[in-house]
Amino acid sequence: MAARRDGPLMRGVTSTPFRRYRLVVAIAVGILVGCVCAYLYPDGLFRSSSSSLRDTIASVNSHQDASVQCESSERVNMLKSELASLSEKTAELKKQVRDLNMKLQLTERKRDQAQEQFLALGPQRKAGPFGTVKGLRTNPTVLPDESVNPRLAKILEDVAVQKELIVALANSNVKDMLEVWFENIKRVGIRNYLVVALDDNIEDFCKSKDVPVYRRNPDQDVDSIGKLGGNHAVSGLKFRILREFLQLGYGVLLSDVDIVYLQNPFDHLFRDSDVESMSDGHNNMTAYGFNDVFDEPSMGWARYAHTMRIWVYNSGFFYIRPTIPSIELLDRVATRLSTQKNVWDQAVFNEELFFPSHPGYDGLYASRRTMDIYLFMNSKVLFKTVRKDANLSKLKPVIVHVNYHPDKFPRMKAVVEFYVNGKQNALDPFPDGSEW
Ligand SMILES: *[C@@H]1O[C@H](CO)[C@@H](O)[C@H](O)[C@H]1NC(C)=O
Ligand SMILES: *[C@@H]1O[C@H](CO)[C@@H](O)[C@H](O)[C@H]1NC(C)=O
Repeated sequence: MAARRDGPLMRGVTSTPFRRYRLVVAIAVGILVGCVCAYLYPDGLFRSSSSSLRDTIASVNSHQDASVQCESSERVNMLKSELASLSEKTAELKKQVRDLNMKLQLTERKRDQAQEQFLALGPQRKAGPFGTVKGLRTNPTVLPDESVNPRLAKILEDVAVQKELIVALANSNVKDMLEVWFENIKRVGIRNYLVVALDDNIEDFCKSKDVPVYRRNPDQDVDSIGKLGGNHAVSGLKFRILREFLQLGYGVLLSDVDIVYLQNPFDHLFRDSDVESMSDGHNNMTAYGFNDVFDEPSMGWARYAHTMRIWVYNSGFFYIRPTIPSIELLDRVATRLSTQKNVWDQAVFNEELFFPSHPGYDGLYASRRTMDIYLFMNSKVLFKTVRKDANLSKLKPVIVHVNYHPDKFPRMKAVVEFYVNGKQNALDPFPDGSEW
């Protein structure tokens, strides 16, 4: 046991001088080898293995990084999809808020109008305090009279929405445009529209396309104009035809067929006036009215005379409420168109609407509202201004009326390309005005 406990070195130390000598040589050789190694491998013998250890540790770390990255990219994707769905939800809610606001505005307007009428028609009363008085602009509607045209009454019951509808007159001369007209109305989702067909061809065409159509009972006068009449003559017919619609108690949005519908116009009406019309004006001044100063220098001190100017209302697109002044307007225009020669229905329509009473003349007192020129846009506004303006060209009009250009059909199609199909350069080929 003792021998085993003593190690061989111990035994060596206590042994002979020869053995001691061998031990010294061995130590010297060891030191020498150590020095050589230190010279050859200054970084140490285990460098490579220790660096591979570092690599291993790094690679473990990077694996951890990768799995962290993997986890976080999953998280990012999740957040992204969450964000997308929340954005969608926000947009949807915003739309609902907009719709509700619009409904609220409409209801408030109706309430205000009813109040106005109630006060105006009630017993005579004193004026209120400064700034609180308000005249009546929303006249009461007539009591519907079905007896004037029971057949039409039945059609309107089916077609109208909240006692309102779009009405267009058409004969075969405008068939191409009529098709673009109702295709866009359908696309927007408008249900309350009606074509008054002036000949068989158009009546059949509408029926084949599932478009609500109405054919009047034969009427010698009206029918010959309707079948053979040019643009202006047919345009004058509408004042006669519209009367029955108003008598039946319907608000009518009278529409030419050279119009592209991009939104539902019934969401954008004020309904506070007898006539609410789109304008031929091309900017705020010309559309909404301005003080045009006439200069006559020979008058010296009084050289300036102020005049009221406004570009005409477009008689091809207006909303007319079923009121007494509205029906009076239709009668007055129809009478003048049938008794005076060389008059243009649009000019007559405006003269009746705007000229006040004067000696020998009783003016019409219909209330009027000019529609927003960028929502109810004429083709001069579009081609001269809007298409060149980065901000205005982003707005989506409710309708575009190609009233200022004779090449109506190609321009209508270009308007559809631009606003519906998003083709940014669709309007570019056309000049601002027509080149005769
Ligand atoms: C035109 O009128 C609208 C509505 O009143 C207004 O918002 C807009 O700033 C006006 N534009 C110009 C150029 O005066
Ligand atoms: C468009 O609107 C922006 C912001 O209101 C305005 O800074 C810019 O001048 C407008 N551009 C044009 C061409 O009117």
